[in-house]
Amino acid sequence: MANEPFIGWMTAIQQDMETALDAYLPSADCAPQTLHQAIRYVALEGGKRVRPLLVFAAGELAGATPAALARIASALEMIHVYSLVHDDMPCMDDDVLRRGKPTCHVAYDEATALLTGDALQTLAFDLISSPMDDIAPAAQLRMVHTLARAAGHAGMAGGQAIDLASVGQPLSLPELEFMHMLKTGALIRAAVLLGAMAGRPLSADENARLDAFAKRIGLAFQVVDDILDCEADSATLGKTAGKDAANDKPTYVSLLGLAEAKRFARELHDQAMSELAGFGSSAERLKQLADYIVARSF
Ligand code: IPE
Ligand code: IPE
Ligand code: MG
Ligand code: MG
Ligand code: MG
Repeated sequence: MANEPFIGWMTAIQQDMETALDAYLPSADCAPQTLHQAIRYVALEGGKRVRPLLVFAAGELAGATPAALARIASALEMIHVYSLVHDDMPCMDDDVLRRGKPTCHVAYDEATALLTGDALQTLAFDLISSPMDDIAPAAQLRMVHTLARAAGHAGMAGGQAIDLASVGQPLSLPELEFMHMLKTGALIRAAVLLGAMAGRPLSADENARLDAFAKRIGLAFQVVDDILDCEADSATLGKTAGKDAANDKPTYVSLLGLAEAKRFARELHDQAMSELAGFGSSAERLKQLADYIVARSF
């Protein structure tokens, strides 16, 4: 049964994110127009905004202000969108469909796609490092550090390098987990940590439990992405289905099979949920998001 209060909360944040991103992104009328148009084309009107939703859910748990969370969530979403633009390029997954539209290099060209990703990445750091009323400078510096770590060689970019080097290679389960934790898990984990950092200081124990939650749910997110690539159709996904098998990528489905991959996603979900037990109702949104992440159909 659909959880209407959760869907209402999710829809409101997705709308707020559209407004925030629209305000933070450069105007399409300003030079260089093509780059600015491409940036807006990839970042606006699309995506589930799962990372922003996690920022808000963790921020609500820690009592952060909506204005700070909107800015932090926008920065993180920009990093994510940049990763998608580059992921789709011919030198990576070579995909033509993203969020129900032609990919950036198809709608524009490869050089524009490269620069769109570059510009979104630096705009993310511009945003998260600009003075924020509600955040102490020391906390803000920790946020910049967290985002940089999650996006770079020890996070998303490193995971993408492993992904590309693994084409046609049968990875072991620990190797696959390492790749997924980096390429997708790192930004999901950063979403939870950044949201929490924007609020009241949490105890070491609370931080450890939130981090453990974030790691499990981040891995679950990519396991479900692997499952959907195999099971869903392109129209539902808004991206090309069956691309992992076509590109001979090692995934949880290729390694474990569909049934076992689904069982593993549920196990990760349950492990993640158990980390939230001590937070009571303040973690309600995070719990609902964990449910959504494993039950989603696109
Ligand atoms: C797709 O991410 C790429 C992965 C990291 C698996 P999402 O499934 O969050 O894509 P959007 O943002 O909703 O388009
Ligand atoms: C990409 O993983 C993760 C990123 C860092 C973008 P995938 O290559 O599986 O993502 P999709 O399926 O194209 O969205
Ligand atoms: Mg990829
Ligand atoms: Mg891809
Ligand atoms: Mg995928």
